[in-house]
Amino acid sequence: MSNILVTGGCGFIGSHTTVSLLEAGYNVIVIDNLVNSSKKVLERIEKITKKNVKFYQEDLLDGKALNDIYEKEEITSVIHFAALKAVSESCEIPLVYFNNNITGTINLLKTMERNNVKSLVFSSSATVYGKPATVPISEDFPIAALTVSNPYGRTKIMIEDMLRDIYKADSTWNIALLRYFNPIGAHESGEIGENPNGIPNNLLPYVAKVAVGELECVNVYGDDYDTPDGTGVRDYIHVVDLAEGHIKALEKLKTNPGLVTYNLGTGTGYSVLEIIKNFEKACGKKIPYKIAERRKGDIDTCYANPEKARLELGFEAKRGIDKMCEDAWRWQSKNPKGYC
Ligand code: UFG
Repeated sequence: MSNILVTGGCGFIGSHTTVSLLEAGYNVIVIDNLVNSSKKVLERIEKITKKNVKFYQEDLLDGKALNDIYEKEEITSVIHFAALKAVSESCEIPLVYFNNNITGTINLLKTMERNNVKSLVFSSSATVYGKPATVPISEDFPIAALTVSNPYGRTKIMIEDMLRDIYKADSTWNIALLRYFNPIGAHESGEIGENPNGIPNNLLPYVAKVAVGELECVNVYGDDYDTPDGTGVRDYIHVVDLAEGHIKALEKLKTNPGLVTYNLGTGTGYSVLEIIKNFEKACGKKIPYKIAERRKGDIDTCYANPEKARLELGFEAKRGIDKMCEDAWRWQSKNPKGYC
């Protein structure tokens, strides 16, 4: 039986991946410092799966605590989600982001190496492509360090670079870099979902909070982009599909592939206005919106070429935009105040 250590397992993607892992028969050990998540998630995960999750409230910055966990548990592989991820906040407190995301990852990797656990799935992002020259985006597109305009995105590039160097020096590692596009939706039970602190930065949780009456109106950041309706186009992927992509990646790592890189997206882009329209259909309410200034650092269009993951992992996103909005609404309407 494989024991998977999930860092950041109480977060949005981490919690859904933990459910998928448990359902696939893995044992899961979660480490989370709970700075941006709630311990209640664990009860919900156990309610959905009827299985136990081992939990350590620890910070990856605490190398000793991490080592103690490795001494207690027989860990086979690690899925590393734990990170700070707010783009605008990262521009205000870059050092906190570099310390948390980079130092935390270095501590994790050192502990893995010391304990001879060399199987890792890393939570990367389409943000590493910066402003791509064309779409759809394939994995062989350049990593665009120069067009990534924020420290958060840079931490993803820096960690990918570190992992490539580590693999070059020691080919006994097996590492999957998963570049996520825009994860939305929620588990269909409505028990777990996205639960940002404060006013959401991302489109979907913002729209959901307008629908539930907590926020007044969606600001659409720009309607003069080079897209069919002028608003930004993104590749939204259901978080449960994304979670299932991690199971496929773990299976791949068992075949000793070395370092592999995959986009996890659907290959289809939707505009901001299309998302609002689809969410209105899901919740049966009108969502007020107004056109606002462009947000700094945003690009026109971003969507994946998902072929490599399909061919090499057998991964294909199954849930469409209607399901993404319906599930996000079920979570939001059942839990208007999040996990409390
Ligand atoms: N948008 C609005 N109003 C809002 C929020 C967003 O109009 O209140 C627009 C944005 O301008 C963009 C689209 O909705 O066109 C999506 O914006 P998000 O903030 O939801 O997502 P981003 O594509 O900007 O970024 C997300 C993650 C990043 C990740 C990136 C990968 O936040 O961490 O996807 O593609 F790196």
